[in-house]
Amino acid sequence: MTTATERSAEVEAQVREVLRAYERIAPVYDVLDGLYEWSWKRRLRAELFAHALPGRLLDVGVGTGCNMPFYPKDASVVGIDASPAMLARARARASRLGLSVELRRMNLLELGFADGSFDTVVATFVLLCLPDELQLPALRELARVTRPGGRILLLDYHRSSRTAVRWWMRLLSGWLRWAFAARFDPTTERHLAEAGLRTLLHAHRMGDGVTLHVLEPPADGERAAL
Ligand SMILES: C[S@@+](CC[C@H](N)C(=O)[O-])C[C@H]1O[C@@H](n2cnc3c(N)ncnc32)[C@H](O)[C@@H]1O
Repeated sequence: MTTATERSAEVEAQVREVLRAYERIAPVYDVLDGLYEWSWKRRLRAELFAHALPGRLLDVGVGTGCNMPFYPKDASVVGIDASPAMLARARARASRLGLSVELRRMNLLELGFADGSFDTVVATFVLLCLPDELQLPALRELARVTRPGGRILLLDYHRSSRTAVRWWMRLLSGWLRWAFAARFDPTTERHLAEAGLRTLLHAHRMGDGVTLHVLEPPADGERAAL
């Protein structure tokens, strides 16, 4: 069993790695990701946000704010990220789009919000920055701040079963690690049940190189048992 000290050392190490990567890459992030963004990511963001509920929305690991064009109209949105440089880009994008988004520096593993604060919690291409041992704590933290009956929406890379895609992922994995502190094979899916999350939709996209999840957090009575 992991002790609290070991856990906080893991959390600190993850944030250090994220800061090292994203403080460096933030100025060119949108240019580097532009081809992916316009050729397929925007389409999948639109699909994901179709499952958002009205009300308060938390965009976890908001990055430079690529999800912003897809926020539901009238939603009250908070975006959090560990990287100040990424948040500065997100602030500039919100202002360009004329959106009012509360942007805060925060670690997704220690969210400074009360239980059940949000109707919808979204994380796109974020849990892929976490090592296996932090996947369950991250899912529990997202579930904690989502109200019972709310939605958790995830979009991430997925280890493809197709040989050609696997080769492509293998070729790019060193770059992904260095540039984005990320991996193509996050183990999120293995921990959903243990986090008490009910899967409403699980779909593969881009062959099976990307995975989309629509999840429901545990009801109030079930939370205590987790
Ligand atoms: C690949 S970017 C994705 C950004 C955005 N969600 C998108 O879809 O374009 C990953 C983001 O997650 C943030 N991140 C990673 N680990 C985090 C943590 N523990 N707490 C908060 N933010 C984190 C990084 O700083 C980065 O901005």
